[in-house]
Order: sequence, then structure tokens, then C-alpha cells
Amino acid sequence: MKKILIGTHNPGKFREIAYLISKKFKKISPVKLNIKSPKETGKTFESNSRLKANFFSKFVDFPVISDDSGLCIKSLKNTPGVYSARLAKEKGGFHNAMKYILKKLKLKKNRSAFFVCNLTYKSQDGKFINVQGKIYGKISEKILGKNGFGYDPIFIPNSYNETYGQMNKREKMKIDHRYLAFKKLRKKINI
Ligand code: IMP
Repeated sequence: MKKILIGTHNPGKFREIAYLISKKFKKISPVKLNIKSPKETGKTFESNSRLKANFFSKFVDFPVISDDSGLCIKSLKNTPGVYSARLAKEKGGFHNAMKYILKKLKLKKNRSAFFVCNLTYKSQDGKFINVQGKIYGKISEKILGKNGFGYDPIFIPNSYNETYGQMNKREKMKIDHRYLAFKKLRKKINI
């Protein structure tokens, strides 16, 4: 069976990416291989995603897929963006980070936001494919729902009335930014 390394230590992301990749692949986690995460020194989703794919590929002799993603809030100058994971760390977890965001948005009229996912596939022979998926929506007034991971409970995608966190996991995975990026990747390679 063909193998692919899903270059993330985030269990929520791993689950989503593994779900999208064809059953033909055995999906390997860096956690199982005892590989740590690289430092995310890039300033864009694309540079961080490429950096991760490059890093993880050094440890295996099969393809690697990695992702860099985050939540961009318009009235907060598109932050936390590439710092989404770091904001949660700095605030002592996602619940606190979401509370912090809601407080910051209290007096703002515009609650528009978007999630971005940059996926990088690195083949065994060193070729890179990079794609990006974006989904627009808004930040909810409250933390709502217990499903999913990260900032799911405060993001309501356009044309929905509930947060990612209130949606059934499968339902979310079929519309989200990661899925949109993956659809583009699938047009380029058989994965
Ligand atoms: P990084 O790509 O490892 O830098 O982390 C991205 C951050 O954005 C993490 O903290 C994730 O939890 C968050 N994030 C990315 N995608 C999603 C999503 O689909 N739902 C909720 N949070 C997400």
C-alpha cells in the first residue's frame, strides 16, 4: 500500500486531511514516527506550508502533505492569520483565545472573517504542489458548539446559521477551507 505522511501534530487537522485523501494511501502521522514540528518562521500561509512539507520530507521516502491554516478577521487587520496557533498558545488555549477575539470585536460593526488553508504536497522526487482554499463568513457573538477543533466554535460560514463547532464533523469537512484547497490539489494529482 502507498504511504503518505500528513505533516501535522494537530489531531483535528490530521483527521480532516486523512478523511480527504483516498483510501489507497496509508496515512502516517509524524507523532508515530517521533518527528517534531519545525519552527514556523514564514510570514505567509504558503511559506509555512512549504516549509513544513520540506521539513517532514527529510524523514521519509514517500510523499508528504502539509497544511498551514488560520483565521483572518477583517476588522482586526486580518489577524490572527498565520499566528492563529500562537495566539491560542499565548492565551493559554483556544477557549481563552476565542474569548479574547470576542472581546476585541465587541465594539466593531464588521464581524467578517475568513479561514485560509494552504496545502503543500511534496512528492518522493522532490516536486512541490501548492494550493490554497478560502472560506468567507463571520465571527459569532458567542462561543457556540463543541464539535471540531481550534476556532470552530466562533466561525459561521456564509449561507449557514451555525458555527463550524455546531456542525456535524463530516458536514464541516465537506465545505471547509481545507476541503476547498484539497479539491484544487485533486485536480493536479491523483490523491
Ligand atoms: P498552524 O497551521 O499549525 O499554524 O495552525 C493553524 C491554527 O488555526 C491552529 O491553531 C488551528 O487550530 C486553527 N485552524 C486551522 N484550521 C482550522 C479549522 O478548520 N477550524 C478551527 N481552527 C482552525
